[in-house]
Amino acid sequence: MNTIRPLVAGNWKMNGLSVGLEQAKLLANDLAGSQQYKCDVMLCPPATLLAQAHWQLKGTKVALGGQDCHSAVSGAHTGDISADMLKDAGAIAVIVGHSERRTNHKETDAQVSAKATAAHNAGLVAIICIGETLDERKGGKTLGVLTEQIKGSVPAGSTASNSVIAYEPIWAIGTGLTPTTAEVAEAHAHIRAELSKVMGSEGPATRILYGGSVKGSNAVELMGVANVNGALVGGASLKAEDFMGIIKAYA
Ligand code: PGA
Repeated sequence: MNTIRPLVAGNWKMNGLSVGLEQAKLLANDLAGSQQYKCDVMLCPPATLLAQAHWQLKGTKVALGGQDCHSAVSGAHTGDISADMLKDAGAIAVIVGHSERRTNHKETDAQVSAKATAAHNAGLVAIICIGETLDERKGGKTLGVLTEQIKGSVPAGSTASNSVIAYEPIWAIGTGLTPTTAEVAEAHAHIRAELSKVMGSEGPATRILYGGSVKGSNAVELMGVANVNGALVGGASLKAEDFMGIIKAYA
């Protein structure tokens, strides 16, 4: 899908104090140079940094996203953050269903879907994460798992403008391991086909990101795979220099 503008999004996870925003500023400065990269760039810092990052990055090429939201608009949910709150703090998107949320907080596809709907209702782009475990891959179950996750986690009302899918094989996250380009191509082609089933004509235009140990040294290869429309980056998004190494795949 040549017409899809790629997105390179950085997920800082539970990393970053206000001093870490220096890296966000460096990134914005690098992107302000004469070289135009053919992708959108986003950082998803911890919620505590969103408002501050918003003011620092206003008018730059770095957009902001949250890392998770509650499915309710407001209410008695101590410690949780609503999609409206993320939007209010300056986010334009939110990651939902990251495997660390699915594993550590036992989030189900139904909960992820409800969170994506909450994001849509707040006017945020939902970055919906899916991906198989190592056992599932070894057992030949990858494509079936992806089908089920798409059916369960991508809600009605999802469009190419309000939703992004992130394929993140769980065994590749933070491990330095990556699937082969053939495995990435197979998974992304499958996701593309399944998206058309649940999103109709919006499916072919929806961005499908690859995530899991993306770094400067493998970005060109991974981003060059058919149906890969950008990256969701963890560790390598914390330092501007490393993150730029990935963005440069879209020079
Ligand atoms: P990683 O994380 O790039 O550190 O592997 C990816 C992610 O969890 O989104």
